[in-house]
Amino acid sequence: MKKLSIDQAQPIKKIKWLVSDTSEEWLAQAIESPIEILMDHAHCERKAAGSAMQLMFRYLADPGLADVLSPLAREELEHFEMVLQILQSRGKALLPLAAPPYGSLLAKKVRSQEPQRMLDSFLISGLIEARSHERMSLLASYSPDREMRNLYRKLLESEARHFGIFWKLAENRFNSDMVTSRLNELAQFEANILSELYPKPRMHS
Ligand SMILES: [Fe+2]
Ligand SMILES: [Fe+2]
Repeated sequence: MKKLSIDQAQPIKKIKWLVSDTSEEWLAQAIESPIEILMDHAHCERKAAGSAMQLMFRYLADPGLADVLSPLAREELEHFEMVLQILQSRGKALLPLAAPPYGSLLAKKVRSQEPQRMLDSFLISGLIEARSHERMSLLASYSPDREMRNLYRKLLESEARHFGIFWKLAENRFNSDMVTSRLNELAQFEANILSELYPKPRMHS
């Protein structure tokens, strides 16, 4: 793997709740395998759309929830199509890829009783958005591939906005001390999962 250094003088955009910074090893791994990253990214977008729809259907009667999650799901599908187009223009079909343990380990942290289940679901979705935003901002600055830099420049602000949507869903329904203390716990757990680099290049390896 090529040595790569992140220029500390050029701070990467990062949502303050993330406990850790992405490592140079992750960035080097991602840059060396652009097609695999694009494929994994396409899967992340379709999963983000699916999980927004799942939450919307689970809490359909909750006032104001479908109003934000339905457009979010549509936007994630638009992102999915953008990535798919780039893959197609490079002669690549979307293949199934083994997922890193990130999503399933986070999902295990969702408590089974309501209303904790709802709170945890919002916060974990938000943290995944926050991490995607941080990693896209790294790729937007450091990828040697111009098309990928442009793609991530276009997408990263939406992912930050998506974090805000989940944050507001939580804040409007739960006591704010409860939200921040649970978010701190989950953010620490999220950072622990990423402290060991998954051997295959993935958005959340
Ligand atoms: Fe997205
Ligand atoms: Fe998103």
